[in-house]
Order: sequence, then C-alpha cells, then structure tokens
Amino acid sequence: MNPPGLDDLLTCLRFPSVSTDPAHRSDVRACAEWLLGRVRGMGLTGELHETPGHPVLLAKNKHIAGRRTVLLYAHYDVQPAEPLNEWKSPAFEPVIRDGRIFCRGATDNKGQLMAHVQGLAETLAKHADVPVNLILLFEGEEEIGSPNLKPFLEKHREELKCDVVAISDTGMVAPGVGTFTYGLRGIACLEARVHGPAIDLHSGIFGGAVANPVTSIARLTATLHDAGGRVAIAGFYDGVRPVAGWEREAWAGLGDGDAEMLDLTGSPALFGEPGYTERERRWARPTAEVNGIGGGYQGEGSKTVIGREAFVKLSFRLVPDQDPVRVLKLAEAHLRENLPQGVRLEVKPGHTGMPYLMDPHSALGTAAQRALKKVFGGKIALIREGGSIPIVQAFKDVLGVDTLLLGLALPDCQAHAPNENFPVENFAAGVRLNQALLAELA
Ligand code: BES
Ligand code: ZN
Repeated sequence: MNPPGLDDLLTCLRFPSVSTDPAHRSDVRACAEWLLGRVRGMGLTGELHETPGHPVLLAKNKHIAGRRTVLLYAHYDVQPAEPLNEWKSPAFEPVIRDGRIFCRGATDNKGQLMAHVQGLAETLAKHADVPVNLILLFEGEEEIGSPNLKPFLEKHREELKCDVVAISDTGMVAPGVGTFTYGLRGIACLEARVHGPAIDLHSGIFGGAVANPVTSIARLTATLHDAGGRVAIAGFYDGVRPVAGWEREAWAGLGDGDAEMLDLTGSPALFGEPGYTERERRWARPTAEVNGIGGGYQGEGSKTVIGREAFVKLSFRLVPDQDPVRVLKLAEAHLRENLPQGVRLEVKPGHTGMPYLMDPHSALGTAAQRALKKVFGGKIALIREGGSIPIVQAFKDVLGVDTLLLGLALPDCQAHAPNENFPVENFAAGVRLNQALLAELA
C-alpha cells in the first residue's frame, strides 16, 4: 500500500528543477509554484519571493505569542541528471522498484521535503493547526551554493525570526537507524585555467618548442597533495579544530567504516590523509578535490595536437574554523607559486559556504534525538557529514539560531548520481518524524 502523500511526491519529482541550467529556469519556477499551491491548499499562507535567481517559497501558519517558532528549510532544486544513458529509467519520470522511488531529486531533496509537507498536511487536517509557530522556507538554489539566500535572510530578518531551524537533507548511517547530524563541512570552489600558445598547434611541428598546457595543468594539479594524501597548500590546515575524543569513540562504534566505504564506492582501496579513519576524513577533516580536468583532444582515436589551454575545476571541503574565502586566497597563491614554466595562469574563484558545528547535547539537540527515537527506536547515531548545506551557518550568523539536521537519505541513495533513489519507507518515516519533531519542539 502506498503511504498518503506519495502521489504528491511523485508529482513534485516530475518537475526537472535543475537550478544550474538556464534551460530549466521555468521548470524550477513551475516546481515552486506547484509547492506553493500545495502548502496553501493545506491551510498555510505563503508566497513566492523573487530573487535575482530562482524564487524562495515562504509560508506560515497563524503565529501565536508564546509558542516556539520553528523554521523548516528544504530545497526544491536538483542537480543535473547527466549522464542520462546511465539511468535505468528516465531521470524525471519517477518509478518505484523494490520499495524505492527512482528519480533525480528523490532523496536530495524532494523526498525529504515532501515528507515534511505531508507530515504538516496530516497534522493540519487533524488539528487545524500545528503545535508551533511555523515558517516554511523552501529555496531553489541550494545545489548552486545558495547565492541569493543569505541576502534574503538579511532582508527578511524580522519575518524569519525563529527559535530553531530544522532540515532533512542529510543521511542516516544505515536503514532504520535514527541519525542526528551536528556538523557539516563547508565548501570553496575554484577554477584554474592555463593558457599556452595562442592557437592549437601541430604536435609534430611545434612539440618541443613550447609548454603543453595539459601537461602543465596535470603537474599543477598534482602539487595540491603530497604523496600521502595531505593537502600541500601552505596554511591550509590552520585553524582546523581537532576531532574530539568523544567523536572518535562514537564514530568508531558505528561499525566497520572501511568495509562499507569499499562496498559503497567500488574503489579498489581507500586513500586519504594519514592518521584518520575514513569517517574522520569525510566528516571532520578538510580536503581538496579535483571535480574536473580537461584540455586537448577528447574525441575518439588519436589527434596529434597541442591544445592552447587546459583547465581544472577544484572544490575544497572545509571544517571549523577554516574560512572559505581565506582558503581560496591560499589556493590561488599556491597555484601561482607552483605554476610550471611557459604558461599563463587564470584563476576564477567560485562559490563558498561556511562549515557548521553545533553541540548535539544541547537542549534542542536532545529534543531532536528524542523525536528520532520515537520514530526509529534504538540508539541514535550522532554524526557529522561531509556534504555541505551552505545556508546553515548563515542561519546562525543572521538569525542567531542553531539548525537541527535530521536526515533520511541512505548511504546508497545515489544523490547527485544516476539512479538516485529514496525508499518509500523513509518517506513514511519522514512524515512521522516531522510530527514527532514538532511535538518535541513545542
Ligand atoms: N543534501 C546535500 C548535502 C549533504 C549531502 C549533506 C550528504 C550531508 C550528506 C546538498 O543538497 C548538497 O548536495 N549540497 C552541495 C552544496 C554545494 C553545491 C554548495 C554539496 O554538498 O555538494
Ligand atoms: Zn545535493
């Protein structure tokens, strides 16, 4: 039997709301408008707010003095679905197989967003109200770094005044294990381009006379890490807070992380900064990642050419107390310092987001854990995550409040990848979690 609200989730999933792609601009908006209709239909008042990018949906119940105000944040935008030929069913036509919904956005973040919406709809239908002063804030730009949301928070500071933020956009350590996330990594992106000859050259006629930009970008990229896997940028680790003793212990108690990581990634071996477990490396240590590299001939067969330029796309995952803007400056300085001879370097800094860390043993943190316990029973896993939700630290900086991260994604939900999926069971659990959480926070 399909749980109530599932059809709504499938409708939401059919909007290809890819925020990064201008071709999908109207799809992103259509998704926001559909959501607005849905939340108005259940008795909330709300509107879409225009931004220089995609609209922000803001909705509320009638606020009553003395009640706690809870802001629920989620994002209705999704990552691009490419490579399309690796999907077993079309990326924007949700299909249920083996109890899981397959569609781009199923887990990140529409399944989790719609679990909150359904939880609220049921509570409103039953009691004509929810037990807290509610603010819904759904944005359409999370997957591109939330460029317009911080200014939006600043502008609507009064309207958005709340006691706490809650988000379901993170993971569970395993099926059925309630998971409370108290930290996220931050992010800083950068693109570097090396320019060589003014035009592409015949590699026989000109090879040996000039530097090859592809070789240069490869050498330059290789300077980012030492052979052991530590980031080699001077000053990169300044300010990194050590992993606390209790975290090391708690995370070690979550089972054999190495075996699980080998299985999930399909890599022949694990690799990373020495001296830390794979969980510590993903959740509490900063990294430098190469997200793309290119130049020269990429087509079938061989072509004897020296391309005139080459590029690399980098992102740094950051932890408290690193500053993303400072890291970009250090990275640029490192690239300039290590630039091989014979090429010119161009550096384009990209978007940034601050890391986040709260005390999971605080009053609000323990209230969230009680809600998780009500729904999932058993022991609650206390974790940090390696992914980023750029706006979370801005909630702290602008609104002065902590964010409770109660995720519902499983390690194999394939967020951002082909065949993204979300268990129907987790959707149903998310509906109950919404109700349990609001009851606890009330
Ligand atoms: N839901 C993810 C963040 C996430 C994933 C947190 C897994 C914890 C565990 C979010 O939608 C996301 O993908 N964020 C991007 C942000 C970036 C584009 C600025 C990320 O982390 O890459
Ligand atoms: Zn995402």
